[in-house]
Amino acid sequence: MGAERLDKLLASTGRWSRREAKVLIKEGRVLLDGLPAKSAEQRITLELCRITVDGVGLDWRAFTYIMLHKPAGVLSATEDTRQKTVMDLLPEELRRKNLFPVGRLDKDTEGLLLLTDDGDLAHRLLAPKKHVEKVYYAQLDRPLEEADKAAFAAGIVLADGQVCMPAGLSLLGDGTEVMVTLHEGKFHQIKRMIASRGATVRYLKRVSMGPLELDPGLGKGEFRFLTGEEVAKIGGKG
Ligand code: URA
Repeated sequence: MGAERLDKLLASTGRWSRREAKVLIKEGRVLLDGLPAKSAEQRITLELCRITVDGVGLDWRAFTYIMLHKPAGVLSATEDTRQKTVMDLLPEELRRKNLFPVGRLDKDTEGLLLLTDDGDLAHRLLAPKKHVEKVYYAQLDRPLEEADKAAFAAGIVLADGQVCMPAGLSLLGDGTEVMVTLHEGKFHQIKRMIASRGATVRYLKRVSMGPLELDPGLGKGEFRFLTGEEVAKIGGKG
């Protein structure tokens, strides 16, 4: 990368807009090699300069990894002509980054959705052979029982004859709330598995995917960047 304007560089991390970056610089919170940056127009060659914001060094990751708390009512897609997608929840500077959701949650499902531009990582996390564990919390219209646990463990046969891999089922309280652990991702899988046991899913939320857990500090529709530790855990490029 050649020399770039400082505000543009800061905005390219996706953490701040150009306007926010200008404010940070004005407030003296951006240091270049330990000295406060003088102006947003300053041209910086990344390889030659250490930039910190509020004392924290910027990491120029090759890829972007975002944890989103998907709310109900938005599609897990990059674009749609009529309906709101998860991309509409991101600020403009991130929408320009060719991010895409790693796997899909139904429109009415909430919870953890990873967004990235790292195609290799997405492929690895979604590859059927990798069996990455996904955990969901569900509320049902009627309780499941101990016998349903055994059926989940043996591999549910869906109404269309598809056989699911063994899955985990834990009953919470009276059994109208459950945790389900899957190692694959068929279309509407949890809803269909639960339907095969005679109950209907009223609410569904993904709480984890592999080593990534939904951050309890993220409200519905909010997102944050993965930490370096999280990126390493999922095998991203740091
Ligand atoms: N299973 C479902 O039925 N829906 C989802 O969104 C995810 C898993």
